Amino acid sequence: MRMFRTKPVEDVLAQLCDEPGEQDAPRLQRRLGPVSLMGFGIGVVIGTGIFTLTGVEAKNHAGPAVVVSFVIAGVVSALAALCYSELASSVPTAGSAYTYAYATMGEVFAWIIGWDLVLEFALGASVVARGWSGYLQKLFSLPTSLFGEESTVNVGAIGIVLALGVVAVVGIRESARVTNALVAVKVAVCVFVIVAGAFYMTRDHLSPFVPAARPVANGTSGLKQPLSQVLFGLEPSAFGIAGVLTAAAVVFFAYTGFEAVANLGEETRDPGRDLPRGLLGTLAIATVLYVGVSLVVTGMVDYRELNEGAPIASAFDAVGAGWASTLVSIAAVAGLTSVILVDIVAMGRIGYALGRDGLLPPAVAKIHPRWGTPYRVSAAFVVLVAVIAGLVPLAQLADLVSIGTLFAFVVVSIAVPVLRRTRPQLARPFRVPLSPVLPVVSALACLYLMTNLSLETWLRFVIWMVIGLAVYFGYGQRNAALAERLRDRERERSG
Ligand code: ALA
Repeated sequence: MRMFRTKPVEDVLAQLCDEPGEQDAPRLQRRLGPVSLMGFGIGVVIGTGIFTLTGVEAKNHAGPAVVVSFVIAGVVSALAALCYSELASSVPTAGSAYTYAYATMGEVFAWIIGWDLVLEFALGASVVARGWSGYLQKLFSLPTSLFGEESTVNVGAIGIVLALGVVAVVGIRESARVTNALVAVKVAVCVFVIVAGAFYMTRDHLSPFVPAARPVANGTSGLKQPLSQVLFGLEPSAFGIAGVLTAAAVVFFAYTGFEAVANLGEETRDPGRDLPRGLLGTLAIATVLYVGVSLVVTGMVDYRELNEGAPIASAFDAVGAGWASTLVSIAAVAGLTSVILVDIVAMGRIGYALGRDGLLPPAVAKIHPRWGTPYRVSAAFVVLVAVIAGLVPLAQLADLVSIGTLFAFVVVSIAVPVLRRTRPQLARPFRVPLSPVLPVVSALACLYLMTNLSLETWLRFVIWMVIGLAVYFGYGQRNAALAERLRDRERERSG
């Protein structure tokens, strides 16, 4: 049962030990504190979700109660963030969920999660790069043959991915600096939207807060229908409580990415203290801003008249504040830039962890002696993302990012009680309250949101996973560094 072997936590911790190793190979360097971690977190979380999905979901599923959908998705994310905090503070590794699964559930599950996270971050970066290109085109009236969704080869998306790829490869400190600057613009504009928009809100627009439920126009069928409809015969409904829940599954996308903070465990100065702060702080700030922005926007414009492409900017246009609309568009471009950058940084860290464990060729995990980054695997992923972002229209694939993230959350939630049982003595600087109840609720809540995603999304997800399993059985299982270590240990015992 080679595929179910687990990596002893002691081995994981030994790899993190800051003493120079025997071969003195360069390692990731501890350069980040809690503020930089939150900068990374906000950098990757606030993006297309709030800038577009607010309008789509208020208009089609929830009305002004999209605010409640944001709260529900935020609570589900917070449960997962608590679980991440416990694992990340006790086992602060660059592989995050992948490594937690390796230590608790077995190698094949770990590989599945690693593969799943690569999907999440690679597609996340690609989707957002295309969005970025579209916003830039609108802002400066650039040629649509090169920028935006109408282009055959999206040169704008390729350009931004390659430029940010260079930043990510050259150094974590540089990435942190660029991210922090972009984040400051993004947060400032969200606060501006809340404060300035509040003057244009009217009570009428917010009432009824939860519009009465009605069946979705034309229904959904075939591959477009949510899994819950197939499994439980639940008809998708617009508005009412069911509509608010449906919208929660979609706006969950707006919270995806905060877990990238956990991938920076090996680059954090005091991981036990700073990782929980980085994870939970990111989520708290995002939730407050999302609730504020969605409340103000639905208060400014009747939800039926919200623009689906650029709801926030258009809301200011609708109330005659065109200057504010331009400001919001500029912030959207800045905001999306940092999402792409952090996705690329996180992708590199997972590739590094997979290579270090021999599940990918170890040569890819080499750290650059001066830059201190896993430059080879990062560069390879950047090229892959540039190709996808340049050629594939990814609008529907945003849901793939959500399903990948939710799947990782389920595994992380389960890993908490499992690790408490198997390694009760492990030092846990942060503990999830009420375990195992809270982690179980977290796993169930994530599963529930997953069932609200379409069959089509499930199918694509399964195909990606099957490809991943082929790679594992073709390469990883035979070359895993763990196999060698377990053999050595066996020899020591018998010798
Ligand atoms: N959470 C990120 C966004 O909303 C991916 O763009």
